[in-house]
Amino acid sequence: MSLTSFPRGLKSQPPATPYTKVTMPALTEMKRQGKPISALTAYDYPSARLVDEAGIDLLLVGDSLAMVVLGHDNTLAVTVDEMLHHTRAVRRAVQRALVVADMPFGSYHASIAEGLRNAIRFVKESGAEAVKVEGPRIELVRTIANAEIPVVGHLGLTPQSVHRMGGYRVQARTAETIRQIKADALALADAGAGALVLEGVPREVAEEITAELPIPTIGIGAGPACDGQILVLHDLLNLTGAPPAKFVRQYADAASLMRTAIEHYREDVEHHVFPSDAESYHLPAPVQRTLAPEAESDPDDALVNQDALQSWAS
Ligand code: KIV
Repeated sequence: MSLTSFPRGLKSQPPATPYTKVTMPALTEMKRQGKPISALTAYDYPSARLVDEAGIDLLLVGDSLAMVVLGHDNTLAVTVDEMLHHTRAVRRAVQRALVVADMPFGSYHASIAEGLRNAIRFVKESGAEAVKVEGPRIELVRTIANAEIPVVGHLGLTPQSVHRMGGYRVQARTAETIRQIKADALALADAGAGALVLEGVPREVAEEITAELPIPTIGIGAGPACDGQILVLHDLLNLTGAPPAKFVRQYADAASLMRTAIEHYREDVEHHVFPSDAESYHLPAPVQRTLAPEAESDPDDALVNQDALQSWAS
């Protein structure tokens, strides 16, 4: 365990500047005002805290969790319980952003009733403020929205359909499929979706859908005309270990930063340079004097958090 871990019961620090909680209606208002919506994925407490503190509007606990955190080849294997577990951690960290939980493959495919039951679980058991479902599932979206749960739709390249699509391919490139995706987008908005993710579609198609819809579009690999943009956090930080897709911009190389730090740590351990005396605890002065009368105690030890020490000792 870590003595430098977050103190028990302490939530994230209050933000330095006042903030207004982002809600689904607030996203529609941003579209109306022409304000771009920023969105990112996150899957755990520390990364969600950073994303929220950076002022990102929408935080998606994506089922990309399956690939970038759990190491699966695609998103299909991740379960409702795993998604709930990660959404809870994210929710604890977030104060401002809208927290959206992705409904995983199998959680809404058997029946609308089961989809609704699982959507309710995300709200009740993880604190999600909205759920996202892939594909033109119009009646499911209508049912979830009617149950007072904000829903985000997702069209275009929908990774849960990887086997049907025959791989991860850009969608809506023919007149017929363009007509279909536009009709699906309008139907989802009409059914009560509060926003729509457009993934892997030509920018011209995304632009037309964005212009026609009353709800915001959030693009990923869908060009700059969408009302907002979303990326997978691990893509943006170079933490996937795979070459990035064309639409990904890497804003930092966290992999190399982490690798260097871990290698330095290993070297320090191997060379007996870590831990130093200053990084060690010392006996209280009276005990030290009994055991080794000439040794001095370290006044910094008094600063160690007593709660933490107790749990460390137990
Ligand atoms: O699971 C995911 O990360 C997504 C994307 C829209 C980023 O669905």
